[in-house]
Amino acid sequence: MRIVLAPMEGVVDHLMRDMLTRIGGFDLCITEFVRVVDQLLPSRVFTRICPELKQGGVTPAGVPVRVQLLGQEPHWLAENAVRAVQLGSPGVDLNFGCPAKAVNKSRGGAVLLKETETLYQIIKAVRDAVPAQFPVTAKIRLGFDDTSLTLDNARAIYEAGATELTVHARTKSDGYRPPAYWPWIKQIRQTIPLNVVANGEIWTPEDATLCLEQSGSTDLMLGRGALASPGLARDIKQHFATATHQKMPWPQVLELLLQYSDYEIAGDKGLYYSNRIKQWFSYLKLQYVEAEVLFQQLRLQQKAPDLVATLRGALDHISGISEH
Ligand SMILES: Cc1cc2nc3c(=O)[nH]c(=O)nc-3n(C[C@H](O)[C@H](O)[C@H](O)COP(=O)(O)O)c2cc1C
Repeated sequence: MRIVLAPMEGVVDHLMRDMLTRIGGFDLCITEFVRVVDQLLPSRVFTRICPELKQGGVTPAGVPVRVQLLGQEPHWLAENAVRAVQLGSPGVDLNFGCPAKAVNKSRGGAVLLKETETLYQIIKAVRDAVPAQFPVTAKIRLGFDDTSLTLDNARAIYEAGATELTVHARTKSDGYRPPAYWPWIKQIRQTIPLNVVANGEIWTPEDATLCLEQSGSTDLMLGRGALASPGLARDIKQHFATATHQKMPWPQVLELLLQYSDYEIAGDKGLYYSNRIKQWFSYLKLQYVEAEVLFQQLRLQQKAPDLVATLRGALDHISGISEH
């Protein structure tokens, strides 16, 4: 089984990839998307989104990080894909799932799921341009408004030469509303002889079991679930190996948050730290009741030192209790 860390624009940056891949369980990460319009982007755009390119295209824990591109022009996507692999990306991923209005308006992301021929042209152009040893992968939703083109799109992606396909098992219109329709992934797998990574709504090892069963896939991609439960990828693998697992205890999550705080504050001088840590809490609250309680204190704080002091205080409090 392979587990891939999902691209999440504005949420999963190189620091988060570092944290999560250190915990273990992940085999591959996909970056936030690089937006391609009508030019060959300078190297700095790629290294800003994927600083790991300067370290051999892997996280400090050694997990490969693949650059994702989003756009609608086959030629420019191909040119930029070549640049990404020249800079050290282990392959290129193409985004056909982004629901953002601004992106869809300029014919990028999920809106291309209405244009099977364009999907084909993009993947073919990128595949022809990128040396064969580098994977060219695609990430789709089931469709834009409905699932009428799901299988046609999957066929086009396969025929254009994609190496692998990730399916977020919902349409654009479904947004992020549960459920994810994992059985659709099985239909896709029965239609094309391509490895399909199953994605959407995996929050626990039990969800992973059900998803693998219903999709028939062997590989999973985790997005929000990995933020809500930072040990999720490791737990899923342990669950499959031993039929048991233990969710990361809350004090360890607090230690992780403090470690992240050190990185984040040093990395961007703390400008975005307050937003980032609160954003992470919005996911942690889904799996840890302790996060909900602590968030009530953090909510009104803005300054990095105050937030860190609150986190540290919470950890000291727990350590104090366990010592007595
Ligand atoms: C805040 C956020 C940002 C995202 N950014 C991207 C992105 O840049 N590229 C992409 O292909 N998908 C993106 N996605 C979709 C996720 O990769 C994933 O397909 C989706 O969240 C479903 O998986 P999950 O239920 O495990 O979260 C984003 C999702 C969220 C919530």
